[in-house]
Amino acid sequence: MENKVFSIAIDGPAGAGKSTVAKGVAARLGIVYVDTGAMYRAIGLKTVRLGIPSDDAEKVCPILDGTEVTIGFIEGVQHVFLDGEDVSGLIRTQEVSNAASKVSAIPEVRYKMVELQQKLAKNTSLIMDGRDIGTHVLPNAEYKFFVTASPEQRTSRRYRELKAKGQLNGMTFNELLLEMVERDKRDSGRECMPLKKAADAILIDTTYMTIEESIDSVIRYIGG
Ligand code: DC
Repeated sequence: MENKVFSIAIDGPAGAGKSTVAKGVAARLGIVYVDTGAMYRAIGLKTVRLGIPSDDAEKVCPILDGTEVTIGFIEGVQHVFLDGEDVSGLIRTQEVSNAASKVSAIPEVRYKMVELQQKLAKNTSLIMDGRDIGTHVLPNAEYKFFVTASPEQRTSRRYRELKAKGQLNGMTFNELLLEMVERDKRDSGRECMPLKKAADAILIDTTYMTIEESIDSVIRYIGG
C-alpha cells in the first residue's frame, strides 16, 4: 500500500461518527483526511449570509460561478475557505447544517463540489467522508465503508457536541432528533447522488461501539 495512491471512502448519515473515525484512521495510516461536508457547509453559509433560501435552485445556482470553495491543510488539519475567507469556525451551527443539507440537494452544487473532491483524490492517498463518496465521487475507491448508528445515538452525540460548544441555543434533545431525522430524509431522499450505501461498502454500525473500536474495525478491514 506504501507507494500506490489509494482512497478510502466513508459514507453515512449525520452523527454516525464518520468524521471521528475517518480522522483516527487517517492519523494511524498517515494519510490525508478530507471532510466533504465542510464544502457543502461553506455554500450553505454563503446562502445564509446572502439571505437566500438554501433550497431554491433558481436563487442558488446564479451565485455558484462567483463562489469559490477551496480546502487547505494547516498543520494537517483541514480548513475550508469560502471566497478566500477561512470559514472553518463558522460552519458547525445548526443553521448552517440545515442550509448545507438543502443546498446539497441542488445538482449544480453537487457537480461543482464533486469535481473538486475528485481532483483532491487524484494524486494523494486519502480517506474522504460524505454521503456519496463510495457511490459517486470515488466509485473505484480501494476501500468503502458505510458508517451508521441509531438516530437516538446519533442525536445524543450531536447534542453533547453542541452543548460542549455552547451552541445548543435552547434546543431540546427531541427537537434535535426531529431535525436529524428530517436531514436524513432529505439527504437520502434527494434525486441527485443521495446518501446511499454502495453495494460494495462494508457496513459498520457504531451504536454500541466506542471511537477506538470503530477505528479498529476499519483498520482491521484494511489490514493496516
Ligand atoms: O457531513 P456533514 O454533516 O458535515 O454534511 C453537511 C451536509 O452536507 C449534509 O446534510 C449533507 C451534505 N453532504 C452531501 O450531500 N454530500 C457529501 N458528500 C457531504 C455532505
